[in-house]
Amino acid sequence: MSDKIKIVRTVHDLRKAVAKWRGRDQTVGLVPTMGALHAGHISLVKLAKKKADKAVVSIFVNPTQFAANEDLSRYPRDEAGDLAKLAAADADLVWSPGVEEMYPDGFSTGVRAGSAAKDLEGAFRPCHFDGVATVCAKLFNQVTPDIAVFGEKDFQQLAVLRQMVRDLNMPLKLIGSPTKRDADGLALSSRNAYLSEAERKIAPALYAAISALAKDVANGADIPAGVADAKRKVTAAGFTKIDYIEVRDAETLEPASTASGRPMRVLAACWLGKTRLIDNVAA
Ligand code: PAF
Repeated sequence: MSDKIKIVRTVHDLRKAVAKWRGRDQTVGLVPTMGALHAGHISLVKLAKKKADKAVVSIFVNPTQFAANEDLSRYPRDEAGDLAKLAAADADLVWSPGVEEMYPDGFSTGVRAGSAAKDLEGAFRPCHFDGVATVCAKLFNQVTPDIAVFGEKDFQQLAVLRQMVRDLNMPLKLIGSPTKRDADGLALSSRNAYLSEAERKIAPALYAAISALAKDVANGADIPAGVADAKRKVTAAGFTKIDYIEVRDAETLEPASTASGRPMRVLAACWLGKTRLIDNVAA
């Protein structure tokens, strides 16, 4: 473990660092992040270190995945804190470009996310996944990793990126890592920092409701009735708006049927005041 970590801010310096490792036949893992790192991110770094010789962590708050009405300007930023955590986690390099380096004047090409992006988050955040797919395609081309590690907390994002890698023959493997949670079940997220003390107490009710729904549908319960019950529970707990609570096929993200015998996933996005929380669990 070192107390300092190398940070690069230009594609030129990044390529030089990666080329040095490649010259020694070392494999490279990438953990893409938007910073404001928490224990969930650190678990991704540790997984990357297990699966590859070197771990690069990108920190870039990507403007193209935020809609005009979303929280880009108030998205939490803490570079000094992030660097200290990454040094402690033994990451090898931080790739932290500015917006001008990532999207120089004249930038106009993008990836259109595939069918996995079409609803759930896609219905509430149009263009979000195009922005995520484009920046991840750029990160993959910049870092040229053998593997990239993503949290299952953003389950649909992982599905969209797996589809992109498959469809565009990108030469890397994506690895999903289970969601890290606080002791009361709340999924770790940079956005939890927005919650007031009172909201933070209510927040674990989302995980409780979707876990109960997942257990019920895994035991063959009726999906629409179970979803209605989960919605009642989160509303009673104090959530102010439900964007969706859905049971989907875990692979295709198409609406699930208990008769199919295929793995299912419960996915949810709900609001607590001004904060939108997402979560998902296996069913
Ligand atoms: O999950 C995130 O933090 C972002 O969507 C990602 C993958 C780093 C792309 O900006």
